[in-house]
Amino acid sequence: MSAPISATASAAPTASAHESGRRQILVTSALPYANGQIHIGHMVEYIQTDIWVRALRMHGHEVYYVGADDTHGTPIMLRAEKEGITPKQLIERVWKEHKRDFDSFGISFDNYYSTDAEENRVLCNSIYTSLQAAGLIEARDIEQAYDPVKEMFLPDRFIKGECPKCGAKDQYGDNCEVCGSTYQPTELINPYSVVSGATPIRKTSTHYFFKLSDPRCEQFLRGWVSGLAQPEATNKMREWLGDEGEAKLADWDISRDAPYFGFEIPGAPGKYFYVWVDAPVGYYASFKNLADRAGIDFDAWIAPGSKAEQYHFIGKDILYFHTLFWPAMLEFSGHRTPTNVFAHGFLTVDGAKMSKSRGTFITAQSVIDTGLNPEWLRYYFAAKLNSTMEDIDLNLDDFQARVNSDLVGKYVNIASRAAGFLIKRFDGRVQDSAMHHPLLGQLRAAISQIAAFYESREYGRALRTTMELADAVNAYVDTAKPWEQAKDPANAVALHETCSVSLEAFRLLSLALKPVLPKLIESVESFLGIAPLVWADAAKPLSSENAINAYKHLTTRVDPKQIEALLAANRESLAPAAETATATAAAAPAKTVAKKQDDAGVISIDDFAKVDLRIAKIVDCKAVEGSDKLLQLTLDVGEEKTRNVFSGIKSAYQPQDLIGKLTVMVVNLAPRKMKFGLSEGMVLAASAADEKAEPGLYILEPHGGAKPGMRVK
Ligand code: 2FM
Ligand code: ZN
Repeated sequence: MSAPISATASAAPTASAHESGRRQILVTSALPYANGQIHIGHMVEYIQTDIWVRALRMHGHEVYYVGADDTHGTPIMLRAEKEGITPKQLIERVWKEHKRDFDSFGISFDNYYSTDAEENRVLCNSIYTSLQAAGLIEARDIEQAYDPVKEMFLPDRFIKGECPKCGAKDQYGDNCEVCGSTYQPTELINPYSVVSGATPIRKTSTHYFFKLSDPRCEQFLRGWVSGLAQPEATNKMREWLGDEGEAKLADWDISRDAPYFGFEIPGAPGKYFYVWVDAPVGYYASFKNLADRAGIDFDAWIAPGSKAEQYHFIGKDILYFHTLFWPAMLEFSGHRTPTNVFAHGFLTVDGAKMSKSRGTFITAQSVIDTGLNPEWLRYYFAAKLNSTMEDIDLNLDDFQARVNSDLVGKYVNIASRAAGFLIKRFDGRVQDSAMHHPLLGQLRAAISQIAAFYESREYGRALRTTMELADAVNAYVDTAKPWEQAKDPANAVALHETCSVSLEAFRLLSLALKPVLPKLIESVESFLGIAPLVWADAAKPLSSENAINAYKHLTTRVDPKQIEALLAANRESLAPAAETATATAAAAPAKTVAKKQDDAGVISIDDFAKVDLRIAKIVDCKAVEGSDKLLQLTLDVGEEKTRNVFSGIKSAYQPQDLIGKLTVMVVNLAPRKMKFGLSEGMVLAASAADEKAEPGLYILEPHGGAKPGMRVK
């Protein structure tokens, strides 16, 4: 599983790297698990890292960006088993899918590898034995949940049962999704193994611990934390470390019992490294694999005191692993420690968590399949990203508007306006004297600031500055009016100047956008007939010595139909059952409803018959404390017991007005656990496709004579 060294890999290191200001930089993004697809939530991180890496390469530094699939652990083992294949077959297949997605999004890994690789086994063993030699590994017997049928120990996520606080069924071993309480897996009532359904028993086994509580670790981490770039990360670390002498750090259980897909621990048959041990080591394994092929001195890069820099881009949810365990593992096994860890926030889509039923759980592949240009997403995410851990939102309307207005309206437009005249009238050559125009001076001066914004991960500021400059260029063109100048041959020199200034300005804007839009800028470079742009090129204007090439369309606008197709492609056909039980049919977003219609998704009578619609009597109705959208309905559908349904109709009805009314309910929706309780179905309501334009919500009511429990068909 080795990837070729990409063309973007920098040249081999030179002895004078540091004297010349050429830095050596190793960069990683979190390794995705090898049992799922890459979605746009993941992509935020890869795009963020890739932009940074590209911006630093453009300074001429020796930068290596490595990644890998995170392949070990129980979920991957069980997933393969479910699919009837071996874990190796599963991870092989997923690796190809992940690689394809990263390539499509222009993620310029110098190596994309796998944690299930020999280099990783060797590195894990050597780190472990060094930690052992340092007296930081301890064996201890612990008691854990065990599945007697499947004959395996059960991670918390593989045990379910009734919540000890509210009694809700099918809750995970650590927290209840209904009442929100947290507890120990041992407190679950009637627990069962998700794997076999058996009741777990308690069983003792020997585990290996990394002694993070050792004063040496604490002391080291207290020092290391002071170098962290993000104040939020430093605060978190200080919270975890506690006050001096407080000894808050707990030892870390780094072993798992067979059966486990992973690396066996040396000297401990039947014991495996917990996946979170070999995952970060996988960064080094990927780099080692690259180094061996590219002639890089791997040992020098990872030695204590190495001049090379090492950065990890991660999501804020895995800060703990990267700022406590990983640096401590490295420090006490005789390696250099990370220069910095950069954490980002989560992605929401249209202000909400990504959702399969709304179609906003968007896979990378679906973006490609619907013909959306991944660089548009790169641009949008970049415009929203900064150096903090704030969450970012992909607002689909704003996405269209921003891409269309910035990239097409402001940027590409400059080239299309200038190129035609330059080619037709001036042999495709710029006027050299125009290269001294003050507007161009302003742009050139801004480039170093923009490059600095990229390096400090303030991409939003980099792009805002760039678009302000694009506005200035467009204002210049609007004032000069080349289309007027072109009418009179006497204005030829002025026209030549206008087009030359515009085109050089376009080149400088392209330079500013290059880390974000690498593919587009590659087309620009070939259109302008210039070598790949680097930051130093700010000072090297276009010259009359080289003619530009014919202008070809550089990018298109986002078509709203593509967004609709994207949502449709990601919407799970029957999954809405599970999610929109939160509310009524009317609560589905307007876009979703519109899409359903123009899909003309014809269904068979059998499909329709799957939906069990019944007349329901609203026997009780109450407001829901803490929710401004929901009403809680108690419904009689002719069954022994009434049903409880939460419905998003509070804006339209007073609870007391509904009591005693009949309505129509979907009774065979999968029950949905909500913060407020279990919702056991959905009542139907009508609303306009565009709820914003035409508000109003009307629950359905049958004609007189209908009785609770009657089937609607
Ligand atoms: O949280 C995750 O998705 C992990 N697979 C990330 C691993 S990052 C690194 F440590 F390998
Ligand atoms: Zn509960």
